[in-house]
Amino acid sequence: MFPEGWTGEVERMREFDREAFGSPDKVGRCVFVTCVGGEPIGLGSYEPCADGSAASVGHNCILPEFRRRGYGRRQLEEIVRRLREHRVERIAATTSEHPFFLPAREMYLSFGFAETGRRDGGPDPGFRLVDYELDLVHELPVPELDACDVDEL
Ligand SMILES: CC(C)(COP(=O)(O)OP(=O)(O)OC[C@H]1O[C@@H](n2cnc3c(N)ncnc32)[C@H](O)[C@@H]1OP(=O)(O)O)[C@@H](O)C(=O)NCCC(=O)NCCS
Repeated sequence: MFPEGWTGEVERMREFDREAFGSPDKVGRCVFVTCVGGEPIGLGSYEPCADGSAASVGHNCILPEFRRRGYGRRQLEEIVRRLREHRVERIAATTSEHPFFLPAREMYLSFGFAETGRRDGGPDPGFRLVDYELDLVHELPVPELDACDVDEL
């Protein structure tokens, strides 16, 4: 699940599982399992901030054998849909420079998140953390093409 040697992260994830599944009305309300054919294949989670305008996503994953089929993106779409309902304006995500997280970095960028910075402090001193943010207020509308535009392409 994590890069080799990140044993502390495994324990942190277990602690998160205990918290989320132990308190379904609190932390657990912001955690869901993605299923295919009734079988769990992924986990989505998010955390609204106290003031309500911002939120963060984290602990999201898809089982290796189900990756690259669009489920990670759909999971993220579901999180964003839920947070829009709560009028959240900004969603933060943090991942790592470690090559293990390349798919996550690419996923956030292709989804429209912008990188906001890199900083020390992750579980591996050799790799910095990478921060992203998705601005739900100032998203650029997708321009609609009319017949004239199409002719000019
Ligand atoms: C990140 C993760 C959830 C993506 O799940 P997924 O189901 O494979 O993702 P999708 O198939 O929906 O792909 C969405 C986008 O992610 C990016 N991506 C996914 N896998 C990639 C890979 N191996 N290399 C490069 N980009 C990749 C692409 O931009 C892709 O869009 P595209 O298919 O249009 O190119 C999955 O790789 C995972 O569980 N990784 C380990 C845990 C993790 O890093 N979680 C995030 C913690 S911050």
